[in-house]
Order: sequence, then structure tokens, then C-alpha cells
Amino acid sequence: MDSDTPTIHTKNELVEIESACRYYHEGEDNEVRAVDKVDLTIANAQFVALRGRSGSGKTTLLNLIGGLDQVTAGRVQFRHTDLANMNDEALTKLRRHEMGFVFQTFSLLPVLSAVENVELTMRIAGLPSGDRRKRAEELLDLVGLTSRMHHRPFELSGGEQQRVSIARALANKPSLLIADEPTGALDSVTGLEIMMLFRRIVDEQNIAIVMATHDPALSQFTDDTWLMDDGSLSHAEGPLDIDLPDLVQHVEFDPVPTSDDVSDGDV
Ligand SMILES: Nc1ncnc2c1ncn2[C@@H]1O[C@H](COP(=O)(O)OP(=O)(O)OP(=O)(O)O)[C@@H](O)[C@H]1O
Ligand SMILES: [Mg+2]
Repeated sequence: MDSDTPTIHTKNELVEIESACRYYHEGEDNEVRAVDKVDLTIANAQFVALRGRSGSGKTTLLNLIGGLDQVTAGRVQFRHTDLANMNDEALTKLRRHEMGFVFQTFSLLPVLSAVENVELTMRIAGLPSGDRRKRAEELLDLVGLTSRMHHRPFELSGGEQQRVSIARALANKPSLLIADEPTGALDSVTGLEIMMLFRRIVDEQNIAIVMATHDPALSQFTDDTWLMDDGSLSHAEGPLDIDLPDLVQHVEFDPVPTSDDVSDGDV
């Protein structure tokens, strides 16, 4: 191949981060190197965790990947396009159609039912109403919440609310889910259920996930775990040896109804 031949990407990279930095108050006495010369590649349908102490830079790095913040040096590419070369409109479109976001606090609208919360994202993206309802129902089925479809957030447990927010994040068929401490507000068993759901989403829907967490136990579900420390990233663990898909397929996601369930018509 001669040296003038353009680079041909043969691997299935989705996100490529090269020497990315995000410094606050750069050059001043109170400079903070929240993200410092980070290199990271996320492939299609790869599940990646960023683990680290509070303040180590996880949220800042997720914000750079999601185009919510900009590098002060280095670059972040999504499907081989540098986010720094995209204007606000293009970034909004990218976020809306290629990325889904999941947060520790669920951030569901309290006045809307589960199915309406999921539909809202599609309404904003301009999907016709019939298609929206059908897809929202399919997504709630995927996360095991068919029986809770018409419940409002306050009628759902924390784990159920997080599953609604995951269904919502999947609504526009993203290629990347960005999850910031998705299990941070949940007990450990419910947190593991969310991890098994993430594993299924990666394996069955071919969606990549990048997740920030404090919890070392969650690494067993990911393809790759990275450690963040004072803005720097180092490799923690590679893929597991055990057959996780086999383990995960035995897990039931349908919630067990309890006696104090509120019926749909009670609100
Ligand atoms: N707007 C800002 N101005 C100055 N410093 C900031 C700003 N936002 C974040 N930081 C600093 O950047 C560093 C990384 O913060 P970040 O929120 O990314 O950490 P984190 O790993 O997500 O922490 P946590 O686990 O508590 O969520 C911290 O030292 C924080 O104080
Ligand atoms: Mg954070």
C-alpha cells in the first residue's frame, strides 16, 4: 500500500479517545486535571466500565464521550468523526439518535406513566405516535416491565424505575449507552439485575455500553474494566473466563407482584 492511501478502518471502533484532556482553570493555581491524557477505544457492542474513586474523573470522561463537554486537548471521535468538528446541531442529532443516557437518579418525569416516559424520547425525535407506543411497549417488555407499563414512577421500586429509564435510553435505537453510576442508588441485588440486563442489551441488541461505577463487583459483567485515578486511566481487567451469557439467560426480569401493588386506575 503506498503512503498516500487514506487510512481504512477495518476494526469496528465506535468511540476512539486519544490523549484526551479536560482541565479546569488551566494554568491557574486551582487547575484541576479532571481527565488527563486518556486513551480509550470502545468497539461496537462492547461493555466497558470505568471504575474509580469519587472525583477521579469518570463523569467528566462520560461527558466528553457524550458530547456534553469538550476536551481541552486531544480528541474524541465517534464513528471516526471528531466531536470537536461538529456544531451544536450536529451534536444534538448525534446524541438523540446514536446515544442513550442512564443516570443514578433515573430522572423520569413524575406525571407520566412508564410507557409515556419511554414514548417521550421518541416524540422529541419526531417518530409517529402509533410507532412510538408499539416500540415503547416492546422496550418495556425487553426490560421485564410489561406489567408495570401504566404505573407512574412513584408506584415503582428503584430497580423498576431504573429499568424504565434504560428502556427510555434505548428508544431511539442508539449504538451507545452512556451510564453514570446506574446502580448507585440501588441495593446490591437490584444492582446485579441491572448489570445482567445491560449484558443482555449488549449481547442481544448489539449496543455498546460505557458505564461509570464505584463498585468492583460489577466488573464481572463487563468486557473491559478501566481504572480512573486523578484523571488518568489504566487497564484493570479484561474479559471474564466464565460463560456469562449462559448465566444471564436463566435470569427472569419480570417483577413479582406484591400485595401492596397499586392498580393502574388508582392515580
Ligand atoms: N466545573 C468544574 N470546575 C472545576 N472542577 C470541576 C468541575 N467539574 C468537576 N470538577 C472536578 O473534576 C474532578 C473530576 O470530577 P468528576 O465529577 O468527573 O468525578 P467522578 O469520578 O465522576 O466522581 P463521583 O464518583 O463523585 O461522581 C473533581 O476533582 C471535580 O472536583
Ligand atoms: Mg461522577
